[in-house]
Amino acid sequence: MELHLENLPKTVEIGRDSAGTYFDYIDQRLLPGELRIERTRDWRQVVEAIQVLAVRGAPAIGLAGASALALWADSAESLDRLHDVAEEIATARPTAVNLRWAVERALGEIAGERDAGVAACKLAELVARMQEEDEAANRAIGEHGAALLAPASRVLTHCNAGSLAVYFYGTALGIVYAAAAQGKLERVYADETRPVGQGARLTAWELSRAGVPTTLICDNMAASRMAKGRVDAVVVGADRIARNGDVANKIGTYGLAVLAYEHGIPFYVAAPTSTIDRSLANGGGIVIEERAASEVLREPIQGVDVWNPAFDVTPARYITRIVTEDGAFEPGGLFR
Ligand code: MRU
Repeated sequence: MELHLENLPKTVEIGRDSAGTYFDYIDQRLLPGELRIERTRDWRQVVEAIQVLAVRGAPAIGLAGASALALWADSAESLDRLHDVAEEIATARPTAVNLRWAVERALGEIAGERDAGVAACKLAELVARMQEEDEAANRAIGEHGAALLAPASRVLTHCNAGSLAVYFYGTALGIVYAAAAQGKLERVYADETRPVGQGARLTAWELSRAGVPTTLICDNMAASRMAKGRVDAVVVGADRIARNGDVANKIGTYGLAVLAYEHGIPFYVAAPTSTIDRSLANGGGIVIEERAASEVLREPIQGVDVWNPAFDVTPARYITRIVTEDGAFEPGGLFR
């Protein structure tokens, strides 16, 4: 298989020109039909892009959040409202800890700064560094994860934890790309990922552009594929990892982990260390975002309620390894 990562554009990218700071992002709502890269200088547009899933995936929304703060500083007369604006950005979505982590890192970068223009420059430079760090972490995750896979692996993944969820390369799909580059990958099974279809729309699009053989399945087909012995490993991303190794990720991940456990298939979680929430002893304290009923049911049906949580928590006992840029760890061994 020939990998074509050059076909994957950067998902989010900060820049500066004579008019000031700008932020480019792929509007992922339009994929797979249209690849449109939006440019904005308006921090509120970035917050909205995060909320409507135009920009999604934990590391990508972190970078977008820090970029939003840079855009705000560039348009502000003073930094008086800095902490209010930072809070509005950090709470745009609740579950992925990378968002607050990135906004707090941005605040730390300009601590004590009084000049909004200088702050904007410093923040744009910080985000550019964070973008490089993101790609380097993903490539390291890829190498550590690929080492766990057997030759000719058939890997099942859920949601999109690929290049579209980060600056470039991907976490779960970083492992896929590294394995493909080493000639160890046979095929990816991409879960459709109801209700918004991050697997059907985004992972399928991304893997097709990258040249990775892909079979799309509906979420409820994973058990049958496993039962037929056609899945060698499950590899997913994460939105927040507690100290004991419990993992919040896209709704449906928990079910997949139980299925993998039952079938004796290794279950790998791939995430940068910025996804680890050291303040949480276990996954019980993770806030799960609940989204609009319209994502599940286009036309309301009288008397029918909809429950639409965006994430679930997979207990550490179902996870074989958590793969970060620092290596592959047993979930309970993250802090040993
Ligand atoms: O709602 P989304 O699309 O932002 O959810 C994304 C996921 O659950 C990803 O698996 C996770 O953020 C990891 S992305 C590298």
